[in-house]
Amino acid sequence: MTSAPAAPAATRRYLSGIQPSGKLHLGNYFGMMKPALERQDEAECFYFIADLHAMNSVRDGEALRANSHEVALDFLAAGLDPERTVFFRQSDIPEIPELYWILGTVTPLGLLERCHAYKDKTARGHAPDLGLFAYPVLQAADILLYDSDVVPVGQDQRQHIEVTRDIATKVNQTYGEVFKLPEPEIGEEVATVPGIDGQKMSKSYGNTLDLFAPPKKLRKAVMKIVTDSAAVEDPKDPAGSTIVQLYRLVARPDDVARMEEEFRAGGVGYGDFKKRLFEEVEGFLGPMRERRQEIAARGGYVEEVLEAGAARARAAGGEVMERVRRAVGLGR
Ligand code: ADP
Ligand code: TRP
Repeated sequence: MTSAPAAPAATRRYLSGIQPSGKLHLGNYFGMMKPALERQDEAECFYFIADLHAMNSVRDGEALRANSHEVALDFLAAGLDPERTVFFRQSDIPEIPELYWILGTVTPLGLLERCHAYKDKTARGHAPDLGLFAYPVLQAADILLYDSDVVPVGQDQRQHIEVTRDIATKVNQTYGEVFKLPEPEIGEEVATVPGIDGQKMSKSYGNTLDLFAPPKKLRKAVMKIVTDSAAVEDPKDPAGSTIVQLYRLVARPDDVARMEEEFRAGGVGYGDFKKRLFEEVEGFLGPMRERRQEIAARGGYVEEVLEAGAARARAAGGEVMERVRRAVGLGR
């Protein structure tokens, strides 16, 4: 399936992007950030802030610039190590729009018409803009520019990696072997994190526990978790409980076991369980919040990190871009 033989694990290049379209929450952390950050120990990681993609939904320049900065700060606070990981902002890489154009010239419309993201968003009232339609081509440019081996993403992004492979194959068939074909890595082991209303936690549902919310706000959100109407003395079912599911993410296994037992035994009310959950969530997020404040206080640090990251990304991407331009006949 792949064009190039798989590189050894240590040198495999992981690439992923996140859109700066709002505040990060516990679902983002456990579903995406934590697995991505753990990869830093074993692979070469390229992670970036997908601000060009976010332009499809954020239509306020100041807000977009601020969000990009905030999300970068969030990742650094959560443990992204900018020495080991190449961390950058998508719009700092001028090769991306260039490659996007080149890929667009061989991309069949039918391929993009089949994409769920476009169909879903337009069905929900998003204007059918070219940017939204061509979004997977921009994502293909993100991935192919750095000869990425693996793209760790959520289930919802699988189709975009398939589109990337199709476009790369088309280029290779047309111009000779130019691109390496990337593989998706879908984190099956990460269950969907529930929000305070029991649905999937998502910023579009307004049911999130935000990673960097002040403790008071966090506590309020935890106390609002929806439960059934069991009385204090009643035995309760831990299996379907949002409280227990969230507690599992942040508490020690023996504390989880104890809570589950107390659910079944009855005699403890949901309010008490929620307080206990809040303590653990706060214990987990508190140090991250402090670290974020420390980093934020270092003046231009975040921008320096992103600038240095962009230089490294461009060095890697420049080699691939030269190969592309030579193959398709651009430049001298
Ligand atoms: P949102 O649904 O809040 O808009 P995004 O779609 O921007 O979140 O998701 C960014 C990343 O976080 C994706 O990789 C996605 O798979 C992951 N993610 C988002 N919500 C959850 C959740 N509730 N549980 C697990 N992973 C999630
Ligand atoms: N489309 C991705 C999302 O919405 C973000 C993204 C942009 C991305 N470019 C990428 C993810 C390249 C992986 C690889 O979550």
